[in-house]
Amino acid sequence: MSLFATPFAPWLRCRQLHQYNSFLNLASNADQISGMSRHRRKQIYLLGFMGSGKSTVGGLLSQELRWPFIDLDAVIEAGQGVSIREIFERSGEPFFRQLERAALTEVLKSEPVVIALGGGTFAFEPNAELIRETGGATIWLDCPLETLRQRCATMQDRPLFRDPESFEHLLDLRLPYYRLAEYRVSTEGRDPREVADQILRLRVF
Ligand code: S3P
Repeated sequence: MSLFATPFAPWLRCRQLHQYNSFLNLASNADQISGMSRHRRKQIYLLGFMGSGKSTVGGLLSQELRWPFIDLDAVIEAGQGVSIREIFERSGEPFFRQLERAALTEVLKSEPVVIALGGGTFAFEPNAELIRETGGATIWLDCPLETLRQRCATMQDRPLFRDPESFEHLLDLRLPYYRLAEYRVSTEGRDPREVADQILRLRVF
């Protein structure tokens, strides 16, 4: 039986997988884009730590581009009919990761699309591999630790936000994976609209 109680949105459709480009390991600043990367993409993957603004920026990009927006966490919650926090509490993180992988496998069949990944999605190599195979643009929303901490401290829906120390430790573990994104966009002190505009200026969509 599928891990999901309900089917994914009907507009999801199959697409051919592209070879991922050789510049994968260039976690470049959005301001310093390699000319090689300037071909048109039909998928945008926003990645970064919890609280980095993936959903907010993703919503803005989707409006501007008139592309559908998918929040991977929301897909998982809709499929299970419970919150991410409840999934963690009832079934643990390994089960959540299975759901995350299954949801990712479905949503990346869609294009054009803006996808906000979960904070851990890109830190699991098999997920990153699937994402690369689609040829979509991977964009890391880089945000300073203190800002992330402040944002997440008031949110009740982040099961992996336990205390400031473990939060920092988790971020340290994740950074090497985030750095594998093609583009890094700093969100420090910036309005989400500004961040979205900078992404749009990449002119690869
Ligand atoms: C997680 C981040 C969360 C959510 C889950 C696990 C993580 O997503 O997927 O709680 O491993 O960092 P957000 O980054 O949207 O908070």
